[in-house]
Amino acid sequence: MNILCVCLGNICRSPAAQAIFEDRIEKAGLNWTVDSAGTGAWHAGNPPDERMIRAAARRGYDLTPQRARKVTGDDFSAFDHILAMDQSNFDDLTAIAPADGSAEISLLLSHTHLDVSEVPDPYYGGESGFDGVINLISKAVDGFLETYAASEDQRA
Ligand code: 4NP
Repeated sequence: MNILCVCLGNICRSPAAQAIFEDRIEKAGLNWTVDSAGTGAWHAGNPPDERMIRAAARRGYDLTPQRARKVTGDDFSAFDHILAMDQSNFDDLTAIAPADGSAEISLLLSHTHLDVSEVPDPYYGGESGFDGVINLISKAVDGFLETYAASEDQRA
């Protein structure tokens, strides 16, 4: 299983989602891969936002090796699941998806049971928004694994 986490800039939400997936995949002994990308290219090549790096580090996740990149057309066939952080990311993804793309595009938070469906963009908000992002993403990643990690052939 190959998973691509997508937000707008690929410097806040989707890098956190990638790191949380990597942690859970390793702990569960799954042979899955995960990557992240942004629908926008403004921050391509940059490390994640310092505030997101700090919030993730408080929870034991290291985002510093990551670099932002823009979603490509090939991503829609290279990945099984493309997980959008919010509805506008989802809409942008469905708008650029090639006709022959095979990836299943969904909202990340559709994989858990919460009363919110989107991971809010923390970019223009305060420090606590970044902690909230991690909480929401953690629940959804756990929900995703509960749904998809059941079969033994997903084990490494
Ligand atoms: P992200 O947050 O989509 O979670 O990476 C943002 C990062 C940058 C911008 C917006 C959102 N920006 O406008 O540059």
